[in-house]
Amino acid sequence: MYTQLEQRGMSDPPVNIGTLRRMKQDGEPIACLTAYDASYAAVVDAARTDLVLVGDSLGMVVQGHDTTVPVTVEDIIYHSRAVARGLRHAFMVADMPFMSYTSPEQALENSVRLMQEGGAMMIKLEGGVGQIEIVEHLARHDIPVCAHVGLKPQSVHKIGGFRVQGREPDEQARLVNAAARLQDAGADIVLLECVPNEVGKAVTEELDVPVIGIGAGPDVDGQILVLYDILDITMGRTPRFVRNFQEGHDSPRAAVEAYVLAVKNREYPAPEHCFS
Ligand code: KIV
Repeated sequence: MYTQLEQRGMSDPPVNIGTLRRMKQDGEPIACLTAYDASYAAVVDAARTDLVLVGDSLGMVVQGHDTTVPVTVEDIIYHSRAVARGLRHAFMVADMPFMSYTSPEQALENSVRLMQEGGAMMIKLEGGVGQIEIVEHLARHDIPVCAHVGLKPQSVHKIGGFRVQGREPDEQARLVNAAARLQDAGADIVLLECVPNEVGKAVTEELDVPVIGIGAGPDVDGQILVLYDILDITMGRTPRFVRNFQEGHDSPRAAVEAYVLAVKNREYPAPEHCFS
């Protein structure tokens, strides 16, 4: 019993939720990226990325949709299986797509599919206080949960575009409160998207669990970006928080290594990638 895990752990222990918690306590930045297939997953893994997300951003960067709304559970399972085959070291999180967690029962059923069929070690859902009951239900069944707050791309048609969240003081307080309540409900990680630096700082100081930011400033516990954005594959306008790491590097692997190093050294994000 436990033989395989112990063998893998001897020379190069894979990242687990305990590793991520320890990194928060020690103040070591957590470097995270998205991946959607085995080859890029292997590149990202070899560069010592700590956490890999099979994001529903695949709907935009792989499938060519304008939003993440059309992505299905089947899509996430398909891509998760491929990514899982490319990883040896990183912790793999898979996104719950739009409308796949409208009730505790549906959320549990789809989380189990992402873990059993997709190989995910944790699921991520976009949520606020409205998702507390769902997070509690998943946590009660030992499903590891990442709660995504701030800008929630699945709500793009409801909020009227991809905009910075939490600029007004009452909105900031609501975001900090929502993140704390999601943690108390059982969320193991909070992902914070597109908020002013002070919101990133406030949420990170308030929570015991790791806080991963995308456009949330330098004071969060870790950073995540969409892989195709840092490799400059994305055509057209990219968000302010994106930095092109392919520039000055002659291979995707060198670009990803530069990203991981910049996160670890706190060189990324710089002021030009942040919101006030
Ligand atoms: O789907 C995704 O890639 C995400 C990131 C933007 C964090 O949720």
